[in-house]
Amino acid sequence: MQRYLIKKIRGMPATDGAGVELVRVIGQPALNMLDPFLLLDAFRSDNADDYIAGFPAHPHRGFETVTYLLNGKMRHQDNAGHEGVIEPGGIQWMTAGRGIIHSEMPEQEDGMLEGFQLWVNLPAQHKMDAPHYQEYAQDKIPIEQRAGCSIRVITGTTSQGTSGPVVQPLTQPLYLDITLQAGHSFCEAVDPTHNAFVYGIQGEVRIPDAKQLEQGIHKDQLGILSQGDTLTLTAGSEGSRFLFISGRPLNEPVARGGPFVMNTEQEVRQAFSDYRAGKF
Ligand code: CO
Repeated sequence: MQRYLIKKIRGMPATDGAGVELVRVIGQPALNMLDPFLLLDAFRSDNADDYIAGFPAHPHRGFETVTYLLNGKMRHQDNAGHEGVIEPGGIQWMTAGRGIIHSEMPEQEDGMLEGFQLWVNLPAQHKMDAPHYQEYAQDKIPIEQRAGCSIRVITGTTSQGTSGPVVQPLTQPLYLDITLQAGHSFCEAVDPTHNAFVYGIQGEVRIPDAKQLEQGIHKDQLGILSQGDTLTLTAGSEGSRFLFISGRPLNEPVARGGPFVMNTEQEVRQAFSDYRAGKF
């Protein structure tokens, strides 16, 4: 069964951190979540006023934050002494688990800053695991080449056997950054039960809808895909670059409280009280 396009979503302008202008694509009224994905923020600006304030120290508990940069640099620092700079093409997959306090600040005073932050939920049994990181620079992310198609594999394994460096067996995510030349297609066998979406970065990618009519996903649009075990995504006349992201749905209750995502309201209150008590 071919996956088809269920719905197109456009992100909502939002301000977060100390005043960073971004577009919230998942985690907004039009798309509250796409299990196990809780939030997707896209940022792209060459105006320093939009990003310079950054995200000063703030906590997280119960899920993972995944930062993927296309342009610019972000410095990351946490309360356990972990520090580093994410550079273009680099990924930081942070499992906040039982709790971390970190800051995410632009490592630049001008120029383009562009990238994504995705929040991936953790199952109830693993929300209080110890925090850890999987961080890889651009040169550690394999690129699979097919006819007219180049695939940067951040996590998961393609049908041709290319595996990304990030590993997360709990939600089995596939995180691909795909560039297609005009008219070429990306055809792939995928887990039929995983939730999946496409997010346009450049040009247009075409996907059939439920009536087999081709629909275009353009830059800054998210396309939610149906369930199914195969996928065909075709570039429009100017070629296309887009993210394809899928993951195993957890089907558990979700209780959100700002930077904490737990299963119950009581657990969210506990997270706030642990944070205030300095237990992170
Ligand atoms: Co954060």
